[in-house]
Amino acid sequence: MKTTRFGVSMDDELLARLDLHARRKKYPNRSEAIRDLVRGALVEEEWSSAKKEVIGVLVIVYDHRMRELSSRLLNVEHGHHGEIVTTLHLHLDHDTCLEAKVIRGKPGAVRHIADELISMKGVKYGRLIPATAGKRLR
Ligand code: NI
Repeated sequence: MKTTRFGVSMDDELLARLDLHARRKKYPNRSEAIRDLVRGALVEEEWSSAKKEVIGVLVIVYDHRMRELSSRLLNVEHGHHGEIVTTLHLHLDHDTCLEAKVIRGKPGAVRHIADELISMKGVKYGRLIPATAGKRLR
């Protein structure tokens, strides 16, 4: 892929904040920091379009002793077997489980599945992390 150099005008304060951001995030230079900011914006755009397929990771933490929670979670998973690609399960301690589920589909469907699981009684924590198949990212 061809790379083009181009000039960017920016006021000093914004540039200073960009440099601070790049340093904090350990970017080797401004260009890599700016590329990542652009990629982040493009992934956000992917998620805001209703038609494009997206991929995300849902992390949930729950107490498996909670009545029928495990089977309720499994029911939802089987109900969405086409979207939930895989689940990683960790027994964190005697009572607590952590699961990471990779969910693929239209943004609305992925969010709906995540909300359904996060809102279940007994789920103590849940976050959906938007990711991307990165088809058009370099
Ligand atoms: Ni467990």
